[in-house]
Amino acid sequence: MRVLVLYESRRGFTLTVARRIRDELRDRGYETTAAPIRGVDAGTLAAAGAFVVGTWVAGKIVAGVGPARQCLEGIEALPPLDGRPAAVFCTYDVSPRGTLATLASRLSGRGARVEIGGRFRNGPFPGARARSLAKVPAFVDRALESFERLRPAPGT
Ligand SMILES: Cc1cc2nc3c(=O)[nH]c(=O)nc-3n(C[C@H](O)[C@H](O)[C@H](O)COP(=O)(O)O)c2cc1C
Repeated sequence: MRVLVLYESRRGFTLTVARRIRDELRDRGYETTAAPIRGVDAGTLAAAGAFVVGTWVAGKIVAGVGPARQCLEGIEALPPLDGRPAAVFCTYDVSPRGTLATLASRLSGRGARVEIGGRFRNGPFPGARARSLAKVPAFVDRALESFERLRPAPGT
Protein backbone atom coordinates (compact mmCIF):
# COMPACT_ATOMS: atom_id res chain seq x y z
CA MET A 1 0.00 0.00 0.00
CA ARG A 2 1.36 3.39 -1.03
CA VAL A 3 0.78 6.14 1.55
CA LEU A 4 0.63 9.80 0.52
CA VAL A 5 1.44 12.38 3.20
CA LEU A 6 -0.15 15.75 2.32
CA TYR A 7 0.66 18.85 4.33
CA GLU A 8 0.03 22.57 4.61
CA SER A 9 2.91 24.36 6.34
CA ARG A 10 3.62 28.05 6.77
CA ARG A 11 6.84 28.23 8.77
CA GLY A 12 8.08 24.69 8.41
CA PHE A 13 7.14 22.65 11.47
CA THR A 14 4.18 20.89 9.83
CA LEU A 15 6.55 20.03 6.97
CA THR A 16 9.06 18.66 9.50
CA VAL A 17 6.38 16.44 11.07
CA ALA A 18 5.15 15.33 7.62
CA ARG A 19 8.69 14.31 6.63
CA ARG A 20 9.18 12.45 9.89
CA ILE A 21 5.92 10.56 9.30
CA ARG A 22 7.07 9.74 5.75
CA ASP A 23 10.45 8.50 7.00
CA GLU A 24 8.80 6.38 9.69
CA LEU A 25 6.48 4.81 7.09
CA ARG A 26 9.43 4.09 4.78
CA ASP A 27 11.36 2.47 7.63
CA ARG A 28 8.42 0.09 7.98
CA GLY A 29 8.52 -0.84 4.30
CA TYR A 30 5.73 1.33 2.93
CA GLU A 31 6.16 3.28 -0.30
CA THR A 32 5.53 6.83 0.78
CA THR A 33 5.66 10.35 -0.66
CA ALA A 34 5.18 13.67 1.13
CA ALA A 35 3.75 16.55 -0.91
CA PRO A 36 2.17 19.95 -0.28
CA ILE A 37 -1.61 19.58 -0.38
CA ARG A 38 -1.88 22.54 -2.70
CA GLY A 39 -0.84 21.47 -6.14
CA VAL A 40 -0.32 17.73 -5.61
CA ASP A 41 -0.64 16.07 -9.01
CA ALA A 42 -3.47 13.76 -10.03
CA GLY A 43 -1.21 10.78 -10.70
CA THR A 44 0.31 10.89 -7.22
CA LEU A 45 -3.19 11.07 -5.72
CA ALA A 46 -4.47 8.20 -7.86
CA ALA A 47 -1.57 5.94 -6.84
CA ALA A 48 -2.19 6.34 -3.11
CA GLY A 49 -3.91 3.61 -1.11
CA ALA A 50 -4.08 5.75 2.03
CA PHE A 51 -3.49 9.34 3.07
CA VAL A 52 -2.08 11.30 5.98
CA VAL A 53 -3.18 14.95 5.92
CA GLY A 54 -1.63 17.58 8.17
CA THR A 55 -2.03 21.30 8.76
CA TRP A 56 -0.95 24.04 11.10
CA VAL A 57 -3.63 25.46 13.40
CA ALA A 58 -4.83 28.95 12.54
CA GLY A 59 -6.97 31.22 14.68
CA LYS A 60 -7.03 33.65 17.55
CA ILE A 61 -6.24 31.09 20.27
CA VAL A 62 -9.79 30.95 21.68
CA ALA A 63 -11.85 32.02 18.66
CA GLY A 64 -11.94 30.94 15.06
CA VAL A 65 -9.42 28.14 15.67
CA GLY A 66 -9.18 25.45 13.01
CA PRO A 67 -7.21 24.08 10.09
CA ALA A 68 -5.37 26.62 7.96
CA ARG A 69 -7.67 27.91 5.22
CA GLN A 70 -5.18 26.80 2.56
CA CYS A 71 -5.43 23.22 3.82
CA LEU A 72 -9.23 23.24 3.62
CA GLU A 73 -9.01 24.65 0.09
CA GLY A 74 -6.57 21.88 -0.77
CA ILE A 75 -8.98 19.24 0.56
CA GLU A 76 -11.86 20.68 -1.47
CA ALA A 77 -9.71 20.46 -4.59
CA LEU A 78 -8.92 16.75 -4.12
CA PRO A 79 -10.57 14.23 -6.44
CA PRO A 80 -13.03 11.79 -4.85
CA LEU A 81 -11.12 9.60 -2.40
CA ASP A 82 -13.37 6.59 -2.95
CA GLY A 83 -13.42 5.13 0.54
CA ARG A 84 -9.65 5.11 0.94
CA PRO A 85 -8.46 5.45 4.56
CA ALA A 86 -6.88 8.64 5.88
CA ALA A 87 -5.36 9.89 9.13
CA VAL A 88 -5.10 13.54 10.11
CA PHE A 89 -2.65 15.58 12.17
CA CYS A 90 -2.06 19.18 13.15
CA THR A 91 0.69 21.27 14.68
CA TYR A 92 -0.16 24.04 17.15
CA ASP A 93 1.17 26.34 19.87
CA VAL A 94 -1.63 26.54 22.45
CA SER A 95 -4.61 24.31 21.60
CA PRO A 96 -5.91 22.80 18.37
CA ARG A 97 -9.48 22.90 19.69
CA GLY A 98 -11.70 21.42 16.95
CA THR A 99 -9.02 21.31 14.23
CA LEU A 100 -8.75 17.52 13.92
CA ALA A 101 -12.54 17.01 13.87
CA THR A 102 -12.88 19.62 11.13
CA LEU A 103 -10.10 18.05 9.07
CA ALA A 104 -11.66 14.62 9.46
CA SER A 105 -15.12 15.79 8.46
CA ARG A 106 -13.86 17.64 5.39
CA LEU A 107 -11.89 14.60 4.27
CA SER A 108 -14.92 12.40 4.87
CA GLY A 109 -16.78 14.81 2.63
CA ARG A 110 -14.30 13.93 -0.13
CA GLY A 111 -14.96 10.24 0.45
CA ALA A 112 -12.08 9.28 2.77
CA ARG A 113 -12.53 7.11 5.86
CA VAL A 114 -10.85 8.81 8.81
CA GLU A 115 -10.35 7.20 12.22
CA ILE A 116 -7.04 8.53 13.52
CA GLY A 117 -5.85 11.99 14.53
CA GLY A 118 -2.58 13.26 16.01
CA ARG A 119 -1.63 16.62 17.47
CA PHE A 120 1.96 17.86 17.63
CA ARG A 121 2.87 20.90 19.67
CA ASN A 122 5.33 23.38 18.16
CA GLY A 123 5.76 26.06 20.83
CA PRO A 124 6.12 28.18 22.75
CA PHE A 125 8.15 26.16 25.27
CA PRO A 126 11.66 24.80 24.72
CA GLY A 127 11.59 21.11 23.96
CA ALA A 128 8.04 21.07 22.59
CA ARG A 129 9.18 20.19 19.06
CA ALA A 130 11.47 17.39 20.17
CA ARG A 131 8.73 15.88 22.33
CA SER A 132 6.32 16.13 19.41
CA LEU A 133 8.67 14.40 17.00
CA ALA A 134 9.15 11.60 19.54
CA LYS A 135 5.40 10.95 19.29
CA VAL A 136 5.51 10.27 15.54
CA PRO A 137 6.18 6.49 15.75
CA ALA A 138 3.11 5.95 17.96
CA PHE A 139 0.98 8.02 15.58
CA VAL A 140 2.21 5.96 12.63
CA ASP A 141 1.43 2.74 14.54
CA ARG A 142 -2.17 3.85 15.03
CA ALA A 143 -2.54 5.10 11.45
CA LEU A 144 -1.22 1.87 9.91
CA GLU A 145 -3.44 -0.28 12.08
CA SER A 146 -6.43 1.77 10.85
CA PHE A 147 -5.30 1.73 7.20
CA GLU A 148 -4.79 -2.02 7.12
CA ARG A 149 -8.19 -2.64 8.68
CA LEU A 150 -10.12 -0.16 6.53
CA ARG A 151 -8.59 -0.55 3.13
CA PRO A 152 -10.77 -2.24 0.53
CA ALA A 153 -9.89 -5.85 -0.15
CA PRO A 154 -8.11 -6.38 -3.50
CA GLY A 155 -10.53 -6.71 -6.39
CA THR A 156 -13.39 -4.92 -4.67
C1 LIG B 1 -1.54 33.52 11.97
C2 LIG B 1 -1.35 32.39 12.97
C3 LIG B 1 -2.39 32.02 13.80
C4 LIG B 1 -2.22 30.98 14.72
N1 LIG B 1 -3.25 30.65 15.54
C5 LIG B 1 -3.10 29.65 16.44
C6 LIG B 1 -4.17 29.31 17.34
O1 LIG B 1 -5.26 29.91 17.31
N2 LIG B 1 -3.95 28.30 18.22
C7 LIG B 1 -2.76 27.62 18.30
O2 LIG B 1 -2.65 26.72 19.12
N3 LIG B 1 -1.73 27.92 17.46
C8 LIG B 1 -1.86 28.93 16.55
N4 LIG B 1 -0.82 29.24 15.72
C9 LIG B 1 0.45 28.50 15.83
C10 LIG B 1 0.71 27.54 14.68
O3 LIG B 1 -0.42 26.72 14.40
C11 LIG B 1 1.90 26.62 15.00
O4 LIG B 1 3.03 27.41 15.29
C12 LIG B 1 2.17 25.66 13.88
O5 LIG B 1 3.02 24.63 14.33
C13 LIG B 1 2.82 26.34 12.68
O6 LIG B 1 3.10 25.37 11.70
P1 LIG B 1 4.10 25.65 10.51
O7 LIG B 1 5.48 25.87 11.12
O8 LIG B 1 4.05 24.43 9.65
O9 LIG B 1 3.63 26.87 9.78
C14 LIG B 1 -0.96 30.29 14.81
C15 LIG B 1 0.09 30.69 13.96
C16 LIG B 1 -0.09 31.71 13.04
C17 LIG B 1 1.07 32.11 12.15
